[in-house]
Amino acid sequence: MLAEVADIDILDGAAVVVFCEENAIDFVIVGPEAPLAAGVADATRAAGLLTFGPSAAAARLEASKGFTKEICDACAAPTAGYARFTDAAAARAFVLAKGAPLVIKADGLAAGKGVIMGMTLEEALAGIDDIFGGAFGAAGAEVVVEEFMEGEEASFFVLSDGINALPIGTAQDHKRAFDGDTGPNTGGMGAYSPAPVLTPALQQQAMEQIVLPTIREMSRRGTPYQGVLYAGLMIDRDQARLVEYNCRFGDPEAQVLMMRLGAQALDLMLACAEGRLAEARLNWADDHALSVVIAARGYPGAYAKGSEIGGLDRLPEDSGHMVFHAGTAASDGRIIASGGRVLNVTARGGTLREARDAAYAMVDAIDWPDGFARRDIGWRAL
Ligand code: AMP
Ligand code: GLY
Repeated sequence: MLAEVADIDILDGAAVVVFCEENAIDFVIVGPEAPLAAGVADATRAAGLLTFGPSAAAARLEASKGFTKEICDACAAPTAGYARFTDAAAARAFVLAKGAPLVIKADGLAAGKGVIMGMTLEEALAGIDDIFGGAFGAAGAEVVVEEFMEGEEASFFVLSDGINALPIGTAQDHKRAFDGDTGPNTGGMGAYSPAPVLTPALQQQAMEQIVLPTIREMSRRGTPYQGVLYAGLMIDRDQARLVEYNCRFGDPEAQVLMMRLGAQALDLMLACAEGRLAEARLNWADDHALSVVIAARGYPGAYAKGSEIGGLDRLPEDSGHMVFHAGTAASDGRIIASGGRVLNVTARGGTLREARDAAYAMVDAIDWPDGFARRDIGWRAL
């Protein structure tokens, strides 16, 4: 076990500061989007704590889809055409004029659920009605309607100290719950890195046309972006366009990136927080990592908690094999399930196939009848 969970409200910046002071914490990494958007990194920085993670103003790159579009316009970054609306009648009229397919998005944070694919006019209009009807609460006060982009999606990760930017890898995840990319959408059922579709030329294009102009524009506005910028890209005919930004490492993307970066991940995050990313060097390993999520049966719908997970102590834990716990709790020396996505079983290998075989060997050694995993993570790249 590498870490302990503390019982504090991570959305409460003041409570996080008090915890850090009481426990002599000298470096804070704010991981998820909700505390970033709530200004927790602002609070810890204001208290003099060294912090990795964007301010609330900079985290708007994830927290407001309309804001991201505005930044793309300001720096001419390639992305889907769009329009922003604050009332349903105007949005419906626009959809009727444009015709399907269109993508309908709640502007704010909706835990990955605020995006509706309007493949038909009916779906697009229903999406508008749902969002303005309050399906996503305040996140749906504004709606962004986007052109539908064809292509293959991949994720590109860059660290920034506000001025400098350093690419740290690529990944692809699997959003659907079941094999063959079927079933309901989830937060991600597995991921692998690197993403072969993101060739060096495409990465360079994404840096020059999307990421660096964004970093410069955020800095020009007086809200520099410090942290990890996750660019979700759509690749079509040798061109990358921005689908969205996240202001975090992603889940399960973080797990494959951490396996590949190893201990230098901490040095790089420190370099960001201390504003000296220009001096930082990244040691690229020519390897692959793959992570398989084991989720509770029923996820992403209703699921039970509390069943025991066996077999974990038999698994290798070294620089090539790691089980990341996402939804577990320790109880009387046993590990029990306490969430929807419960474990990220992750392995590294010289090839993607080796990484996959090693990860699934670990999955097969885990004894948890109440869990399920996809058996085909990585299929697109393999
Ligand atoms: P987002 O939360 O903006 O990443 O959207 C969630 C998912 O919806 C993305 O990962 C894509 O699969 C899809 N998506 C979002 N916007 C578009 C678009 N303009 N065209 C096609 N697919 C999209
Ligand atoms: N796996 C996608 C995300 O973390 O947003």
